[in-house]
Amino acid sequence: MACRGVRIRVATRNAHKLAEIAEILRPYGIQVEALGAEKVEVQDDDVANIARRAAEILCSQHGDCVVVEDTGLYIKSLGGFPGPYAEYAYRTVGLRGILRLLEGSRDREAAFRCAVAVCVGGSVHVFIGEARGWIAREPRGSAGFGYDPVFVPEGESRTYAELGGLVKNRVSHRARAFTALAKFLLESCKCGERTT
Ligand code: IMP
Repeated sequence: MACRGVRIRVATRNAHKLAEIAEILRPYGIQVEALGAEKVEVQDDDVANIARRAAEILCSQHGDCVVVEDTGLYIKSLGGFPGPYAEYAYRTVGLRGILRLLEGSRDREAAFRCAVAVCVGGSVHVFIGEARGWIAREPRGSAGFGYDPVFVPEGESRTYAELGGLVKNRVSHRARAFTALAKFLLESCKCGERTT
């Protein structure tokens, strides 16, 4: 059974994120629009719970096929800090502050964890994507946003910001989570219409 016209509305005001999501979903023919509302800030230690609750709230206001994404950065030698507080850490201490915390640390292992929640017909479905890697010793590269200049994904020596969107969008935490979402939407033909 085929499905066409799948369309989602993403609750973010981050233009970089929206562009990445559109790029990741383009091969699946899924149309991406901005909801025009920021994701509701929910406090929790788990990005999956944050995305799920924010989706429940936003869907009750804006209807089905609203998508909420929440991403955390987990640095092993810092006990998983900043985790779901990555946005706060970025705004306050910034990349320099994170690098300072890791000064002298040989263990630079880290992982991005991305949770994507979509609501359809009163149910919320959550998809997770992870990318393991390590934190560089200094910021490198100019593509992307946020922690991209300091995150080196597994199997690479360059940061996300050096690799650029084409590579990042194939291997990233976001690519993994949104690919799982795309498969779900197309297989169940949610947020689109069946053609056969
Ligand atoms: P949020 O999911 O938008 O709350 O993102 C949390 C923090 O992680 C923000 O500071 C983002 O800039 C950063 N962030 C989210 N996704 C990425 C990414 O793909 N690369 C680098 N930083 C990211």
